[in-house]
Amino acid sequence: MKIAVCPGSFDPITMGHLDIITRASMLFDRVIVLISINAAKKTAFSLEERVELTRKAVAHLPNVEVDSFGGLLVDYVRRRQAAVIVRGLRAMSDFEYEFQMALANKRMNPDAETVFLTTAAENMYLSSSLIKQIVSFGGHVEGLVPECIREEIEQRLSPREKRS
Ligand code: COA
Repeated sequence: MKIAVCPGSFDPITMGHLDIITRASMLFDRVIVLISINAAKKTAFSLEERVELTRKAVAHLPNVEVDSFGGLLVDYVRRRQAAVIVRGLRAMSDFEYEFQMALANKRMNPDAETVFLTTAAENMYLSSSLIKQIVSFGGHVEGLVPECIREEIEQRLSPREKRS
């Protein structure tokens, strides 16, 4: 059984993430979406919130599960006997960072391959930061995050005076 891990901060999950996860679910027997810690980021949503939002967003994909881990990605990958780490690539600007992570992970766990899926053209400009910025100024994010969690994200991050 080929198991793939899709790691990320998912703060929050966007249509860009969901597109990559969906395509990975067609390529591998089992996909684990791993909510991980990026030490360089201060998140808006707690780990529990990110897990809950992500679980709702992928509930329709039968071979996808959501987990969280506070340690090194390669240790989790080894423990779950996964063969592949899947990441999405948006633009050239992502490349250096992703390349560095892939090489570091390969050095720490030579058995795991990082596979990059190119981001769908309509999601090229999308990021979790963009979502947070739009909502924090009172905007709406239809079509940018999975519809089943859109209201929850808007309620949670909208300016205080706009909350119902
Ligand atoms: N389309 C559009 N946007 C996308 C996308 C896609 N397909 N895939 C990702 N993005 C965006 C995200 O929204 C996010 O936006 P943001 O920067 O505004 O938050 C950005 O691209 C990348 O974030 P994400 O994929 O959620 O995770 P990350 O880059 O923060 O994740 C970890 C990095 C968690 C995988 C990495 O830090 C890690 O492995 N941590 C565990 C500890 C470890 O092993 N460290 C050593 C690593 S060598």
